[in-house]
Amino acid sequence: MATVHLKGLGKTYPGPKSGGVEAVTGIDLDVADGELIVIVGPSGCGKSTLLRMVAGLETITEGTLDIDGNEMNRVEPARRDIAMVFQNYALYPHMSVYKNMAYGLVNRGEPKAEIDRKVREAAATLELSELLERKPAQLSGGQRQRVAMGRAIVRSPKVFLFDEPLSNLDAKLRVQMRIEIKRLQKQLGVTALYVTHDQVEAMTLADRLVAMNGGRVEQIGTPMELYERPASLFVAGFIGTPPMNILPCAVEEGQVHFGDTALVATSLPEHTQVSLGIRPEHVLLCEPAKTPLRGVVDLIEQLGAETLAHISIAGEDGMLNVIARMPPVAPWKEGNAVALDMRASQISLFDTGGRRIEAP
Ligand SMILES: Nc1ncnc2c1ncn2[C@@H]1O[C@H](COP(=O)(O)OP(=O)(O)OP(=O)(O)O)[C@@H](O)[C@H]1O
Ligand SMILES: [Mg+2]
Repeated sequence: MATVHLKGLGKTYPGPKSGGVEAVTGIDLDVADGELIVIVGPSGCGKSTLLRMVAGLETITEGTLDIDGNEMNRVEPARRDIAMVFQNYALYPHMSVYKNMAYGLVNRGEPKAEIDRKVREAAATLELSELLERKPAQLSGGQRQRVAMGRAIVRSPKVFLFDEPLSNLDAKLRVQMRIEIKRLQKQLGVTALYVTHDQVEAMTLADRLVAMNGGRVEQIGTPMELYERPASLFVAGFIGTPPMNILPCAVEEGQVHFGDTALVATSLPEHTQVSLGIRPEHVLLCEPAKTPLRGVVDLIEQLGAETLAHISIAGEDGMLNVIARMPPVAPWKEGNAVALDMRASQISLFDTGGRRIEAP
């Protein structure tokens, strides 16, 4: 059990370029005891680097890392009391499941009886009791993943770090393990940092989400805060599938206009250029006569539980694609002319720098 505080944390890798590669910059993050923080962001944005700095596998080149109020910057990995679970599990192939799980404790010189108790307890929790004598090669992907988890659990570390632990599993197993991890993390009450590419994993596991881009934090908040009130165009586009629709707009006579169409009242100054964001489920389709914002249904995607309509609307610089999310049985067909409606409360506005405009 622990709190983790990152203050101005940064990492520059030495490289051929003078000054090296700035992988992570100015990360401020306070993780509460027992909190599960999920870190998301595009490939190369610095997620693994951040975790590896916390684990002590990379040196910290800027800022401070505190665990339970103690600075850890120069503390060696083995003394940080952290367990890391990787994407490739990193199990020892020649050792049995039992020995893989016991390894860290044997290294620490714990009494044999104590080790045995911890391994069997963790194995029971993870439903591995029947598999303790097998070698990793004789296990399924999900079972290997659970062994990797077990190896972390037996050490009862202060902090768990997960770097895309489920990305090698098939879709069904990933869902099972996701639920398992959530349950375990709550049951054990451990503080955890969890990196994933998977949107659903991020939304469902996180107490709070950290969205990273280009080595920096774009936004920190609950999953719903990031979904409903993205702090930037980047977050609006990254969180949510399909992503938020974005329309280039300008302020005229107290209204946000898309072309000639007034969409929502605003107190922003005249001629301000803004991007208007609206989630697909908040785009309401109606008969063409109803609202002035018109388009044509290009494509209907029936996904079972929902239907997506791709609508092209004419903008000043060519055609624009807007996606509307609808119930499975929707009255619209490809080729239909439609009008688009939206509620002011469900609109986000962003400035030309891509930052959210609050209370426009
Ligand atoms: N050892 C290294 N030396 C130099 N540059 C590195 C090193 N490790 C990572 N980088 C660079 O640092 C940046 C961040 O890498 P990192 O592995 O943290 O990204 P990531 O967000 O985990 O990406 P992915 O989602 O693909 O795993 C990248 O530009 C990468 O090329
Ligand atoms: Mg990575």
